[in-house]
Amino acid sequence: VEDWDIQYEQGREWESLKRAAEELKETDTPVAFPTETVYGLGADATRSSAVRAIFAAKGRPADNPLIVHVHSIPQLRTLLLGENKTSDGVIDPIPEIYKPLIRMFWPGPLTIILPNPNGSVLAPEVTAGLDTFGARMPRSILSLALMRLADVPLAGPSANASTRPSPTAAEHVKDDLNGRIHTIIDGGPCEVGVESTVVDGLSNPPAVLRPGGVTVEQLRQCPGWENVVVGYKDKHEHDIKPRAPGMKYRHYSPKASVILYEAGAKIPGLSDILNPKKGYKSVGIIRTKTWPAALGLLIDSEHQTNGDSDPKGTGSESVARGLNSSLSNLLRSVIQHQIPHASQHYFQPPVGNRIPVWDIALGTSTEDVARGLFSALRELDKKGVEIILVEGIDDRVGDDIAAAVMNRLRKAAELRV
Ligand code: TXA
Ligand code: MG
Repeated sequence: VEDWDIQYEQGREWESLKRAAEELKETDTPVAFPTETVYGLGADATRSSAVRAIFAAKGRPADNPLIVHVHSIPQLRTLLLGENKTSDGVIDPIPEIYKPLIRMFWPGPLTIILPNPNGSVLAPEVTAGLDTFGARMPRSILSLALMRLADVPLAGPSANASTRPSPTAAEHVKDDLNGRIHTIIDGGPCEVGVESTVVDGLSNPPAVLRPGGVTVEQLRQCPGWENVVVGYKDKHEHDIKPRAPGMKYRHYSPKASVILYEAGAKIPGLSDILNPKKGYKSVGIIRTKTWPAALGLLIDSEHQTNGDSDPKGTGSESVARGLNSSLSNLLRSVIQHQIPHASQHYFQPPVGNRIPVWDIALGTSTEDVARGLFSALRELDKKGVEIILVEGIDDRVGDDIAAAVMNRLRKAAELRV
């Protein structure tokens, strides 16, 4: 991080990855790495000192367990067998219930809850005292390559400071963890933009503990998962005890107050924006499927800027600069997403000064909304807005990742819905 330009050296991707892998194996400082969902903060999951350093860097509560990332099925089996490798490959330790999911969704945005064996090789801090651990195989090529090179299971929460929105670009990690870690592997903007779906197939019926990049509808297609239930709640959070410990914490919060408009709610007007007491000094708007530009209220967009072009590290150009090996060509074909940026407008209230408005259109597809969401919350924070109005999307059907998007937004809004 201190030497931010180092990873853009021409054709040195493998060397950079190898250096990061060495750092993972030989030091206790975590390394930030891209996945298809969000950036992770990785450490050797078998060493307590390395895992404790993740909690310290993030400021994360110790009772919130970490996901273990694996690069292969054999590596997952070693975790399930622990030190008592008695079965000699005769009995497959992977629970049958998960096999259709693994076949269908790995590598990809799905985390499965597994029994942590007696004699587990995982550091106890990873599981936060539970007798289970969560595992996932990400599909980002950089993350798989890093894990192969390090050849250790990688404990990896999202690489944000605790309570902040998850990072979907290397720059976001730098903003939160600068000075606390040495290395961020920049893979450009994340493809999915919301975290993995966490499922528990050890319970009956199986349950979704966190909605994410794999939909409930997709899970239901798999044998044994037809009756999967929703084991989280995001509208009346006080009613049920979350089964994924992380779901109980304040989360995804920008500094500004977030007001979420559920799909179908009335479009906000000037009276919703004018604070009766003093008036907001600046307002952020995140639009999705139907709201008009700046809510149709703008009186002046002459100072409009289309964002700050692409700040270093958040877009594909910054990555493309260093590309020339065959790994680079592969990356070039994978990295194609651009993050939408804010443009500035003004509202003129009936009395008083005009109010600057930062407006971000995430796009009308649910995938685009998911991809740009965390970045939009972070960008509006940087603009210093006091309030963010967000247009929600319909999550009732379950055939896309709207449930994950709305779950994160309801948390960000802390029930101001
Ligand atoms: O997409 C993702 O899953 C990202 C990338 C980096 O892989 N990681 C991520 O990790 O979101 P984190 O630590 O921010 O969220 C992990 C979630 C938390 O809600 C945690 O409580 C839950 O998974 N979890 C982990 N282990 C668990 C277990 N044994 N039982 C129940 N929930 C668990
Ligand atoms: Mg997280």
